[in-house]
Amino acid sequence: MLELLPEKSLAIIAAAPVKMMTDVVPYTFRQDADYSYITGCQQPGGVAILGHDIGLCMFMPEAKPYDVIWQGQVAGVDAALNTFKADKAYPMRKLHEILPDMIRGSSKLYHNVQTATSAYTELEAFKKLAYCSNVNDLSIYTHQLRWIKSPSELKLMKESASIACQALLLTMMHSKAYPFEGMLAAKFEYECKMRGAQRMGFNPVVGGGPNGSVIHYSRNDQKIKDGDLVLMDVGCEVHGYASDLTRTWPPCGSFSSAQEELYELILETNKNCVELCKPGASIRQIHNHSVEMLQKGLKDFGILRDAGSSSYHKLNPTSIGHYLGMDIHDCSMMSFDCPLKPGVVITIEPGVYIPSSFNCPERYRGIGIRIEDEILITETGYEVLTASIPKEVKQIESLLNNFSHGIGLDSQNNLRATSN
Ligand SMILES: *[C@@H]1O[C@H](CO)[C@@H](O)[C@H](O)[C@H]1NC(C)=O
Ligand SMILES: *[C@@H]1O[C@H](CO)[C@@H](O)[C@H](O)[C@H]1NC(C)=O
Ligand SMILES: *[C@@H]1O[C@H](CO)[C@@H](O)[C@H](O)[C@H]1NC(C)=O
Repeated sequence: MLELLPEKSLAIIAAAPVKMMTDVVPYTFRQDADYSYITGCQQPGGVAILGHDIGLCMFMPEAKPYDVIWQGQVAGVDAALNTFKADKAYPMRKLHEILPDMIRGSSKLYHNVQTATSAYTELEAFKKLAYCSNVNDLSIYTHQLRWIKSPSELKLMKESASIACQALLLTMMHSKAYPFEGMLAAKFEYECKMRGAQRMGFNPVVGGGPNGSVIHYSRNDQKIKDGDLVLMDVGCEVHGYASDLTRTWPPCGSFSSAQEELYELILETNKNCVELCKPGASIRQIHNHSVEMLQKGLKDFGILRDAGSSSYHKLNPTSIGHYLGMDIHDCSMMSFDCPLKPGVVITIEPGVYIPSSFNCPERYRGIGIRIEDEILITETGYEVLTASIPKEVKQIESLLNNFSHGIGLDSQNNLRATSN
């Protein structure tokens, strides 16, 4: 990080704030990815400083004895030095004495805009530099670093992908007996956490039938109708590293012919785009290729009138993929035009989302399909991190018909009876 930071400049990175659900109940805390990347520290309330002369300096929160009773121990100055390997560490109450001098010794400041806090933005020295436009967003540097994953980061990315794949496979096998959006979301979360994931990467998207066409659907409260597809876009987090994958399948065990035609088009596009992943290619290039394939395919089905039609964007407004890492839409400062490099992880997620009211042959209406894989760019091309979960029609049908788990909803009542 220090190599990227210009001479005579200082970086200020605050931890994520605690967000409240009600006035006394906080949401589960999630550390800001930049703060986590720089310090490794997973608690709120700290501010980290990076500078060429200073190294890493951490200001740490101090718990009052009363707080410890309610919240437990807090990592303080000792932990900053011994566990997080800071070069210097002070309690937060010293920040207004020490940081102004550090700022005055610098000609430029970079800070984590996402978590900026009045603990430092209200300091006169900070305001003075901000007034002369010498305060900038640090993420232009952190995102460059986070974009390319180190071998130990890749180990966590692979573990996160592997856990999500195992959990989604078990969820598929569960879906015939429990075709409910909410139960499938619960099954996925349970299987991830039983395998060591700390949390979901995002609220699972479990859309049955037309709900599969709602790209960030999150209600997950419907029964999936017999014969409908279910689209599950899911991912978990393992020590700060996210996974993100999507499969679409018919819980009843067989695709209808219209579903299968569309599914094969999305699958072909998925495989073609995966083949294009290699150093030097860009997400934008791959995206353009996917648009061409899908426009042509949808025109052949009579769903689009002409291949160049702007109504294509009504059926798929999303990008073919995004960068993936500590955040789901990782490294947003990196453009989709950047030539990919070994160590970058991206998603490839072609889809089609046909509203129930769309003016096209009736058999295709209300179908939503997405097939999303995680791709690691390697020296020679790519590695699919989500390859272990089936996506061929034949494989999926065989899995559902021959390897479905669960003995129907009756078993639930038994469960309830025995726990009484
Ligand atoms: C989800 O599907 C149900 C039943 O088909 C429908 O009533 C509901 O409006 C859909 N939800 C969204 C957000 O589209
Ligand atoms: C992708 O398509 C857009 C819009 O058609 C075009 O402006 C852009 O130059 C294309 N980019 C690449 C890398 O092919
Ligand atoms: C599994 O199910 C499919 C139907 O989807 C069937 O064609 C196939 O023969 C079955 N395979 C086995 C090993 O039972």
